[in-house]
Amino acid sequence: MSNIVILGAQWGDESKGKLTDVFAADADVVARYQGGDNAGHTIVLGEKTFILHLIPSGILRPDTVNVIGNGVVINLETLFGEIDRLQAQGIEVSSDNLKISDRAHLILPYHKAVEQWEQMGSSTKIGTTSRGIGPTYSDKMNRHAGIRVGDLLEFDHFQKKLDYNLETKAEALQVSGIDRHGLLETYYGYAQRLTPYITDTVAFMHDALDAKKRILFEGAQGTMLDIDFGTYPYVTSSNCSAGAVCTGLGIGPKAIEQVLGVSKAYVTRVGGGPFPTEMEPDLDEKIREIGKEYGATTQRPRRCGWLDLVALRYATQINGFTGIVMTKLDVFDTLEDLQVCVAYRYKGKETTRFPSSLGVLEECEPVYETLPGWQQPLTEARTAADIPQRTKNYIAYVSDYLNVPIPIISVGPDREQIVQLGEPLW
Ligand code: GDP
Ligand code: IMO
Ligand code: MG
Repeated sequence: MSNIVILGAQWGDESKGKLTDVFAADADVVARYQGGDNAGHTIVLGEKTFILHLIPSGILRPDTVNVIGNGVVINLETLFGEIDRLQAQGIEVSSDNLKISDRAHLILPYHKAVEQWEQMGSSTKIGTTSRGIGPTYSDKMNRHAGIRVGDLLEFDHFQKKLDYNLETKAEALQVSGIDRHGLLETYYGYAQRLTPYITDTVAFMHDALDAKKRILFEGAQGTMLDIDFGTYPYVTSSNCSAGAVCTGLGIGPKAIEQVLGVSKAYVTRVGGGPFPTEMEPDLDEKIREIGKEYGATTQRPRRCGWLDLVALRYATQINGFTGIVMTKLDVFDTLEDLQVCVAYRYKGKETTRFPSSLGVLEECEPVYETLPGWQQPLTEARTAADIPQRTKNYIAYVSDYLNVPIPIISVGPDREQIVQLGEPLW
């Protein structure tokens, strides 16, 4: 058995999509277990770029079956748009290589309207992706309002639930122009198109486990956006940490062998909320331009910061990382000096604990160690021998601090721009 979780160790956009695609070359199954189309996972194959929001990043590999688990929230308009786009780009998507959980909850147009309504009335500017993620997970937990994929198979039942929602959300929907008749018609069509994909994915995953298939679990968002462990309330509405693999697919923890955290060589964050190592404006701008740090889902500029080892150790503890993949090292190619945050200073005292209180975090000042940059291009590197010693020193510093191996690094967006430093993982 060699089942691997690939998840974000920071605030999202760490290059999970690319890494999942790389590992998927040898995978039988790739499964998403949380989040929704707030995710934007980019895969670059030469001249072609694919951005996936809902479909797992194994879809570009012809022999891989992709699963959207019960823990994911699904916007069917996005899903079908994504299937159509992939097919237009020559990628086969069918009920043979895409299985969608009957237990997954649906994002409906009124969820976006509710999100807008809530944002208008709140002083907390989370800066969400406006995909209706929060209201959908709220409805799931609330139980009266949630609508699941499986409800589409009993359309009368779907209709009743829809009516309940339109009634109870009437105030938020006043200005949204949502038309019940049109919605029913659209979703009737969606139900027909979705039916072949709808699967009891719990049974599917257990058949795969019993058959000793190689399974990749692809996370969305990142640990610091986790609803429990992230910088609440500036987080998303799902658990993005390793625990969600089990609850989002219906498997036990013993089915997981390795947990890989994906971390950039620096940090980015899109949306509101503090992060202590945010760079001063000139450097922030420079890294954003070199790293092309603009959201894959919303195109918003990502805020950039130095690598934060306090946060990364916290993420390591929460997820039990067995390894870290460090991405976007090439973005540092021209920098003379690199800073890494090794502690926070709070009220004059140093700490290496990540605080739960946002108020405390806002007052934490980063304590930096300065490491020399390598000042040579990494983008052509393909083997450990091609990596400059100073780059290796940077990686070793992080690995020693965290006490976790860094067996793989990424040196550019393309599938080929990957370097194995340690033993192959499977
Ligand atoms: P994800 O959400 O974690 O899958 O990451 P995103 O796709 O949102 O963001 C990562 C961005 O960095 C994408 O534009 C990738 O094409 C790009 N990328 C991935 N790995 C590297 C790398 O090692 N170097 C550079 N320069 N870009 C990378
Ligand atoms: P991937 O999978 C980066 C952020 C939003 C906002 C907060 C809440 O591509 O790494 P939401 O719409 O989820 O309620 O927004 O979470 N966010 C992400 N940031 N990458 C993502 O996904 C994100 N998904 C949500 O910007 O700050
Ligand atoms: Mg992304």
